[in-house]
Amino acid sequence: MEILNIVGGYKLEGEVEVSGAKNAILPIMAATLLTRHPCYLEGVPDLIDVKVMGEVIKTLGAEVKKEGDSLYIDPSLAEEKEVQPELTRRLRASNLVMGPLLSRWHRFRVAYPGGCAIGARPLDLHLKGFAAMGATIRESQGFIEATAPRLHGADIHLDFPSVGATENLMMAAVLAEGVTVLRNVAREPEIVDLQNFLNKMGARIQGAGQDVIRIEGVSELRGARHRIIPDRIEAGTFLVAVAATRGKAFVKGAQPEHLAAVIAKLQEMGAYVGCKKDGIYLEVTNRLQAVDCKTLPYPGFPTDMQPQIMALMTTAQGTGIIIESIFENRFHHAAELKRMGADIKIEGRIAVVTGVPALSGAPVEARDLRGAAALVIAGLMAQGLTSVEGVQHLDRGYERLEEKLQSLGAKLWREGTE
Ligand code: UD1
Repeated sequence: MEILNIVGGYKLEGEVEVSGAKNAILPIMAATLLTRHPCYLEGVPDLIDVKVMGEVIKTLGAEVKKEGDSLYIDPSLAEEKEVQPELTRRLRASNLVMGPLLSRWHRFRVAYPGGCAIGARPLDLHLKGFAAMGATIRESQGFIEATAPRLHGADIHLDFPSVGATENLMMAAVLAEGVTVLRNVAREPEIVDLQNFLNKMGARIQGAGQDVIRIEGVSELRGARHRIIPDRIEAGTFLVAVAATRGKAFVKGAQPEHLAAVIAKLQEMGAYVGCKKDGIYLEVTNRLQAVDCKTLPYPGFPTDMQPQIMALMTTAQGTGIIIESIFENRFHHAAELKRMGADIKIEGRIAVVTGVPALSGAPVEARDLRGAAALVIAGLMAQGLTSVEGVQHLDRGYERLEEKLQSLGAKLWREGTE
């Protein structure tokens, strides 16, 4: 077991660069299965989730080679095979191969993803969409099976703009017969990145980034080369970390248009935020003010930034309300923040955070990726030593986090225990 030790109280200052987006590379890796030709992906972050997705597509017979921050994927020998529970448990997003498998091989058998620390996260919207396109779905013995001898276009309205369902249905539709119209879809930048990659492969998709996507099926796709967009959640995490220590730093590669909701909250709290073409500068000199915050589908405030903003609010002036409207069980970090002296009351999906003058360091335990990031931020602002257990969660979604924070002046180190 590894622990991350943090000595709080050091201001973060300087410049840090964000890596490629985890949530963009995962669906794009799955999308390479749609062609028989090699694909080159650039700006690929070195993350556990990316490694596991690599294992998933290797299991399906594709060749995956990493060269620096590039990934070469040759799916020419890929074939339709089961995806085992061992992999779907380690990476929920491995369900993103369902769309490509159904599209190219007209069938899939994928183990149902296990329960997840932040909520039940069903796949009903994905499966309803596949069924509308002609697939027959069976769920048995922990596996989801689908067959679709003839996958055809359909007009599909999602009950909720699910990111994964939007991506899976886009990928199922690219090789289907006829036109698919997806309504009330997710509008995240990662969906636009997936559309751009698929279109480079020869797909005919338009509308990503808006709430209707139109896909005209084609008979075949070619290989493509693509650079992954910068990670907006990693960028947002650095902005909040700098704000938490009342520091000043430039987050290089952060795209202001992808972070509008986060920037607006930070400004409302009293941070100075300067948006440039190649990144975002943030500076905080005084104590921040509490704000209210509700997570929503993009372009609303991202649920993946909720734990970090909660950490920031623990020492702000006044009381703020955080509403988590995307996931039903995403406040594990609150109990740990309370061990550090935070004043937080939870009622269902609502957290009431009253700022205290300072947090004090304590041993805490992370249960999920963004919750771990929140505890690191709390450790950076707390007085004394914080030891974060469960740091393996950080390696799922942050590339070289300690190194990057150290370059900004943070005092932290990892320690292995028996
Ligand atoms: C993606 C992101 C994740 C982020 C989330 C919401 C990736 C790899 N992961 O996850 O980091 O937190 O978007 O922004 O991109 N739902 C259903 N039925 C479905 C599908 C979803 O009820 O068929 C519900 C989920 O339980 C959840 C909500 O919809 O409450 C949002 O889920 P979704 O947008 O699908 O998130 P993911 O794609 O899993």
